[in-house]
Amino acid sequence: MIRKGARTALLRLYDAGYRHLARPLIFRMSAQQAHQQMHAWLRRADGQTWLLPLLGALRGVIQPPVAVNVGGTTLESPLILAAGLVKGDGFASEEEALAAVAAGRNIIPGWRCLPPLVGLVEFGSFTRWPRPGNPGTVTWRDVVTCSTQNRIGLRNPGARAAAAFLGARRALLPRQYGINIAVSPGVTDLAQQTDEVLESLGAFVAAGVFPTWFTLNLSCPNTEDDPRGHQTADEARALCAAALALLRERNASSPTGRIPPLWVKVGPDLGDEQYRALLRVFAETGVAAVVATNTLPLPTPDDPAVLAGVGGGRLHARAVEVAALLMAERAAHSYPVDVIGCGGVQDGATLRAFAGLGITAMQYWTALVYRGPLASALLADEGER
Ligand SMILES: Cc1cc2nc3c(=O)[nH]c(=O)nc-3n(C[C@H](O)[C@H](O)[C@H](O)COP(=O)(O)O)c2cc1C
Repeated sequence: MIRKGARTALLRLYDAGYRHLARPLIFRMSAQQAHQQMHAWLRRADGQTWLLPLLGALRGVIQPPVAVNVGGTTLESPLILAAGLVKGDGFASEEEALAAVAAGRNIIPGWRCLPPLVGLVEFGSFTRWPRPGNPGTVTWRDVVTCSTQNRIGLRNPGARAAAAFLGARRALLPRQYGINIAVSPGVTDLAQQTDEVLESLGAFVAAGVFPTWFTLNLSCPNTEDDPRGHQTADEARALCAAALALLRERNASSPTGRIPPLWVKVGPDLGDEQYRALLRVFAETGVAAVVATNTLPLPTPDDPAVLAGVGGGRLHARAVEVAALLMAERAAHSYPVDVIGCGGVQDGATLRAFAGLGITAMQYWTALVYRGPLASALLADEGER
């Protein structure tokens, strides 16, 4: 362990190096190329077993653990890499995805090397069935506002293959992590949605994969067929109640005898009354935390008729506004539902915008693009100042 002053000095050096050397090089690639390159790097790094203890040792030096009680559990850090990076390859069918797992292929790049480096990671979103994702250009960056935009379209190997993959490696999984399960875009029948969520959760539990928390993603704005997600109070009630019932029923198979708490992730584009109704549902069903928010659907730079989810600077103010509304509502009704801030947390000031509302844990994604692989350590350090 090194002193705080030395840690800050080291991080400032890294920050200058990333800003002035690494980032300009990475930004010579398009956002799409950089995204693909990052996955290639992650895949390669996962296989370098000599590297993993070094990454862990580095984080031990630059980001000491800080325990925080939030969302029905005690996290070893208040900062979580949000869903969407460690979610795996896309597949056309479950058969193909399971065959890749059986063949020993790494279908979830980053699963092994990112947790030692960045700390807490939310894996997923995983849908019940694999999704190949959208074709063409699906990621952009807006450097002036430090924003990202994507319409990746929930590309993932599907819950069953992801569970089989992680289950076969559960001895190597990090001490703490989350798993994000998304309702399948385009499925409008509530009974089918519920079945799919239960089958997804059940696949992880059956594979012996008990994360520190599960997140149910009700807001998937980046798919053509489902721009509004599943965020009505009635749908949320049915899905959350069924998910929690399944987790309670299966608690005997948990190694700790405790079931992972359920968090729910919402979008930034709902009306105030809708957020109030949802928070009431979360409190009534036993959801432990709400992640606010997912990305904001806005026209893409290439085609104003096509929407894609914006994260980072252009999302931040709205995400804070939603988080403030939820925190006020939580206080007014004494709801036992924590709010996890998410949206444009990229430095000390943006972190404090959420912290100032009384929020103790935050998720980030775009910060990785603009602040680099040690973003989490930078945020922790700058948040203390
Ligand atoms: C490329 C990309 C893919 C994403 N995929 C998912 C996803 O699969 N599930 C999800 O819940 N959120 C996903 N997100 C949203 C992030 O988890 C996060 O909520 C959002 O980017 C806002 O945080 P930020 O402003 O720090 O980026 C994705 C974000 C990006 C940039």
